[in-house]
Amino acid sequence: MKLNQFMKEYAEVIERNLELLYSKDSGLPIIQDAIMYSLLGKGKRLRPLLTLMACQLFDGDLEEAMPYACCIELIHTYSLIHDDLPVMDNDDYRRGKLSNHKVYGEGFALLAGDGLLNNAYEILIESIIAKPTPARLRAASIISKAAGTSGMIGGQAIDLYYEDREINIDKLEEMHSKKTGALIRASLEAGAVISKANEEDVGRVKIYGEYIGKAFQISDDILDVIGTKEKMGKTIGKDAKKNKSTYVTYYGLEKSQEFLSQTVRNAKKILEIYGSKASLLIELADFIACRDA
Ligand code: IPE
Ligand code: IPE
Ligand code: MG
Ligand code: MG
Ligand code: MG
Repeated sequence: MKLNQFMKEYAEVIERNLELLYSKDSGLPIIQDAIMYSLLGKGKRLRPLLTLMACQLFDGDLEEAMPYACCIELIHTYSLIHDDLPVMDNDDYRRGKLSNHKVYGEGFALLAGDGLLNNAYEILIESIIAKPTPARLRAASIISKAAGTSGMIGGQAIDLYYEDREINIDKLEEMHSKKTGALIRASLEAGAVISKANEEDVGRVKIYGEYIGKAFQISDDILDVIGTKEKMGKTIGKDAKKNKSTYVTYYGLEKSQEFLSQTVRNAKKILEIYGSKASLLIELADFIACRDA
């Protein structure tokens, strides 16, 4: 199957599964509405797709990987809602529409994010209670660590701290690796672990994840300068407005493009060993290098 066919087909399956998660009443309707508003916006579903692709690479069962894929998308969506809050990036648009707090207010946006994060752990724990396999336990551990202070939250903290401050290259790399790389890496690693891939294979997929995570944030930094609001579904030029430390502010556009291409080449090289079996993930690396959305 070609990459765009896989992405289209499985993004729909993922979205159906996400919808199902919230089909039951969970208290005050406004919180449910606020969650659904952001969750079912126009997201690329990159992270859950990565989980499925890694699972497929090692002949795993995609149904088995689905709860893990979905819970990563819940965590990612919560991170976007909180990232947009006035106390963070103060962004008015997300996923092609007004950001959560612009519609529901800051309090409910905060709670919608908290709710999504909590729901992700509910899914993980329920899946383990239903069948406590070592692979499920390990996948849950990988995901929770990636979302936490040594992963995404840690990276967001560096991002916030280095607004209006001069960053050095080591911190910039650490910030990218944690705020964006951690969840992308974990998406792949969890998919590989669920498929019961051997340690060498899990290790390779992790390295690939490190590269494409970095590439993804470099391209996000570039697109914040040269992208369009229509394609990106979010405001452009906001990094400069908030005086953020990014790849572009550190290296400039041209060098950032070069790093992006090099990082994608490195990612693809890691998977060469799998030949055409890895064609989806290899194509995906190219998609990241060329994306405009
Ligand atoms: C945006 O992620 C936040 C970053 C880590 C750069 P995506 O570009 O994957 O956002 P969606 O999920 O498609 O909305
Ligand atoms: C976001 O980085 C990383 C997250 C963990 C949400 P950005 O702040 O650059 O993401 P966008 O540009 O708002 O999507
Ligand atoms: Mg941010
Ligand atoms: Mg932001
Ligand atoms: Mg950005």
